Amino acid sequence: MPEITGAEQNRLPDALTPLKLPSDRELVMRVMPMPADANGNGDIFGGWIMAQVDLAGSVLPARIAKGRITTVAVNQFVFKQPVSIGDLLSFYAKVERIGRTSVTVHVEVYAERNPADLHVVKVTEANLTYVAIDPDGKPRLIPKL
Ligand SMILES: CC(C)(COP(=O)(O)OP(=O)(O)OC[C@H]1O[C@@H](n2cnc3c(N)ncnc32)[C@H](O)[C@@H]1OP(=O)(O)O)[C@@H](O)C(=O)NCCC(=O)NCCS
Repeated sequence: MPEITGAEQNRLPDALTPLKLPSDRELVMRVMPMPADANGNGDIFGGWIMAQVDLAGSVLPARIAKGRITTVAVNQFVFKQPVSIGDLLSFYAKVERIGRTSVTVHVEVYAERNPADLHVVKVTEANLTYVAIDPDGKPRLIPKL
């Protein structure tokens, strides 16, 4: 296999990190939906996307809560664009509020599609709240930062 030259190496970051992915929030998860995740029209099930958003949304609250958390509410969920098999989905999260026992996050999902002419589309946006819980499943205080 031919080696990548210095000039090509310099162009690589731009090619590998398409424009329009956010830089002001944290990339918490990436996943590519497969045919088993699609409905009869070939689009991806909304429920599959919701499950992925729930997982991605939990990453920052789990870090902040330093332990077990549970989802208490999906405050808002918007499917802006359909998701297709083979889209590379990137989940970006931002902490919106840290309460006594809960953490609320905003999650945005971007799809990178069409490798021949790569472009990035925001497909989903959601707002979720997680509660820190003790071994009995009862709310516990968020530790001081
Ligand atoms: C989450 C759970 C432990 C909270 O217990 P609770 O006794 O209702 O707790 P509280 O009323 O004291 O609320 C705890 C926190 O959640 C917040 N909260 C409760 N309901 C909320 C809602 N609908 N939207 C946003 N935040 C909410 C409260 O504001 C509070 O936050 P704060 O302490 O930071 O102010 C309990 O409701 C539970 O076990 N739910 C099931 C969770 C689950 O199984 N999730 C997986 C999906 S099926």
